[in-house]
Amino acid sequence: MFVVREIEPGTPEYEQAADVRYDALYREWGLPRTLIEDTDGRVYRHVGAFDGERLVGYARLWLEDGQSKIFQLAVVGDRQGEGIGALLIDSLFEWARDAGRTQVELDARIHVVGYYERLGFVAVSDVFIAGRAHTPHRRMRRSLDTP
Ligand SMILES: CC(C)(COP(=O)(O)OP(=O)(O)OC[C@H]1O[C@@H](n2cnc3c(N)ncnc32)[C@H](O)[C@@H]1OP(=O)(O)O)[C@@H](O)C(=O)NCCC(=O)NCCS
Repeated sequence: MFVVREIEPGTPEYEQAADVRYDALYREWGLPRTLIEDTDGRVYRHVGAFDGERLVGYARLWLEDGQSKIFQLAVVGDRQGEGIGALLIDSLFEWARDAGRTQVELDARIHVVGYYERLGFVAVSDVFIAGRAHTPHRRMRRSLDTP
């Protein structure tokens, strides 16, 4: 069981999210934990999936400058395959719709392009190197016109 709710920056939940992000997205590359610090100055909305007090999944949405872009989707290893990632993405779709956006974008690590395609995203770029880990990505886009 899990519930999805917003996370406010600066809270203990936000710190838990940093651990989840690091473990899922950066640890395997041997990158320093300091990499996880948010220094880009952007304002995001953060969503978490919780099993009791334990954070089991996380994602964020950037809505500035007319954008609607998803970052940092991460589900803890022992809870993958339960639909947590899909539900987190759904929450971000709702926030984007509420903000008047008609589409969302993300830069997908190439090994998860197939995952996002299942959620209705379409690749709109060739492979490029991006992200804090400097790994191959493709930009993907999803219309919010359909549920
Ligand atoms: C990718 C990730 C977020 C998926 O989250 P999740 O909660 O496990 O996914 P869901 O439960 O919503 O979906 C599971 C389904 O997606 C499928 N799936 C998982 N990873 C996939 C992939 N890379 N390509 C295609 N399908 C994939 C599973 O096989 C499963 O299929 P099923 O429902 O038919 O059994 C999670 O595996 C993760 O955190 N990975 C490490 C971090 C990462 O790579 N994040 C993306 C950065 S762009």
